[in-house]
Amino acid sequence: MCGIVGYTGGSQAAPILLEGLEKLEYRGYDSAGIAVFGGKEKKKEPSIEVIKAKGRLKVLFEMTDSGKAVHGTCGIGHTRWATHGEPSVVNSHPQYAKDKRVVVVHNGIIENYQELKERLVRDGCEFVSDTDTEVVAHLLDRYYEKDPVDAISKLMYHVRGSYALGILFGDRPGEIYAVRKDSPLIVGRSAGGNFIASDVPAILRYTRDVCFIENQVIVRLTGKDIQFFDVDKAELKKEFTQIQWDTEAAEKGGFKHFMLKEIYEQPKAIRDTVSPRVKDGKVNLEELHLTQEDLASVRRIQMVACGSAYHVCMTARYMVEGLVRIPVDVDLASEFRYRRPILEENTLVIVISQSGETADSLAALREAKSLGHKVMAIVNVVGSSIAREADSVFYTWAGPEISVATTKAYSTQLAAVYLLAIAMGRARGLVDEQTEADMVAELLRLPEKIERILEEKERIQWFANKFSHSRDIFFIGRGLDYASSLEGSLKLKEISYIHSEAYAAGELKHGTISLIEDGILVIGVATQSSLFEKLISNMVEVKSRGAYVLGVTSYGNYSMEDVANYTIYVPKTMECFAASLVVVPLQLLAYYVALGKGLDVDKPRNLAKSVTVE
Ligand code: M6R
Repeated sequence: MCGIVGYTGGSQAAPILLEGLEKLEYRGYDSAGIAVFGGKEKKKEPSIEVIKAKGRLKVLFEMTDSGKAVHGTCGIGHTRWATHGEPSVVNSHPQYAKDKRVVVVHNGIIENYQELKERLVRDGCEFVSDTDTEVVAHLLDRYYEKDPVDAISKLMYHVRGSYALGILFGDRPGEIYAVRKDSPLIVGRSAGGNFIASDVPAILRYTRDVCFIENQVIVRLTGKDIQFFDVDKAELKKEFTQIQWDTEAAEKGGFKHFMLKEIYEQPKAIRDTVSPRVKDGKVNLEELHLTQEDLASVRRIQMVACGSAYHVCMTARYMVEGLVRIPVDVDLASEFRYRRPILEENTLVIVISQSGETADSLAALREAKSLGHKVMAIVNVVGSSIAREADSVFYTWAGPEISVATTKAYSTQLAAVYLLAIAMGRARGLVDEQTEADMVAELLRLPEKIERILEEKERIQWFANKFSHSRDIFFIGRGLDYASSLEGSLKLKEISYIHSEAYAAGELKHGTISLIEDGILVIGVATQSSLFEKLISNMVEVKSRGAYVLGVTSYGNYSMEDVANYTIYVPKTMECFAASLVVVPLQLLAYYVALGKGLDVDKPRNLAKSVTVE
């Protein structure tokens, strides 16, 4: 969703802002803008110059000669993902009140903006845009007398919803103000100046010294100084963290797209997630502060997530119920938060999220906590809202994931779930020492098996080119393979724009089979021996109705070739870990289909990397 960058210091701000916004492009946007103190020509009186453009950042780069044409050392920038009002120059940010006394960039949604706007209009305020953000600018203008922190504090008492705001006050050159509630915002400091940003990659070139601002905290930045305040204007002390990963991790590194790079990073990401949790061949989750008794006392697991993370939950349901023999309920976060869930005692709630900022997942976490339950989060982004609000955090060490379509984060979430399942199985006496050792050893072999799949990518690329002009593509699977099919289908549709659905294969005859017609591609995923024959029968059913059938299975299951028109094999593994391998050819298939269609693989239309609004 929207991206924010701000800089104040000794260097020219505009090039830094544009470069930072470029690093946030992955979040999704449809227009962009910057505001810089000083303006085009150096004048005696400080003024704020605002430049905005609809469409790609490229336009803003061209309008400003890559920022060089805009002079000034303090400014804020924004990429907008439209919520209130169409994508247009007038609706893009920065938004401002009269004479640019207050200039604002915003990520989030002001829920009561309509009533606030009506009141402001009654008082004679003139609006030019359809955005909720303009309401913030006018309100701040109204509240601002001499003290920006006081104005922001008043604003916080009047607005409802989610916001990360970067603010310039026209009579305060060199100063940036910021505040956040339920939308991400970080602060960075360096000898050359200070920064605000929606995410670390935006400022990583300049600093690794960052502070993840908590909810309802106000920040004042000058080139030399950073101060934090609570909503009642009391000054706060804040800790800064050193970011461990480097800029290369957030660059393409020779790959054509981030997605392909991230697919290739999966072996490392899984190693980094699993290895620190294995000691002497056993799973060690002491970082979660859960005793054996805590794990053994869990009677039920409630998992909540969105999108691909939800598919991890679906995989976990089959895996955990099979191994640990306790019920696992899985909900979409957007449904869970509104269905007045009933959670029994001793239910462990697990929220999974790559970004740790997904609005629905965060709300689901809060819902579970309000019902008195402890929440464990499986999260990739350190210091994110979900990580901060959960009772315990299981970090996946996937590193920064830039492509909108998740790949390596998904794979590390699966690994986290496996580790948790083994630990619970041990605690409940259902997994003995030898089985644990075997499972751990196999987990540690998964990266190398993924590397082998990647070596055969040409076969998948060839196949993808054959079907890149399909109108519909279906996926079928049973059990764990159904969960993998859901992920394969989502990957394909989100980046290739081909209509795709995944079905539990047993459901075909209850309606879906009527969609099968000559030449339609059906992808059957079959890694579970107890369900293999059944899935093969389903593939025969669709083939006999004209479908072209692609089989995805493990080496050894060669009878697949009796039915499938084309077969992709993955290395053998323990069946409970098969999802980690079959997903790789499905990711590659989606990638190469989108590539074949000439689409923007990393930034698919209408999508954002981090969905911070409902
Ligand atoms: O950051 P999160 O894991 O909470 O994001 C959840 C979904 O938005 C995300 O998995 C989405 O479905 C991906 N684009 C799928 O590739």
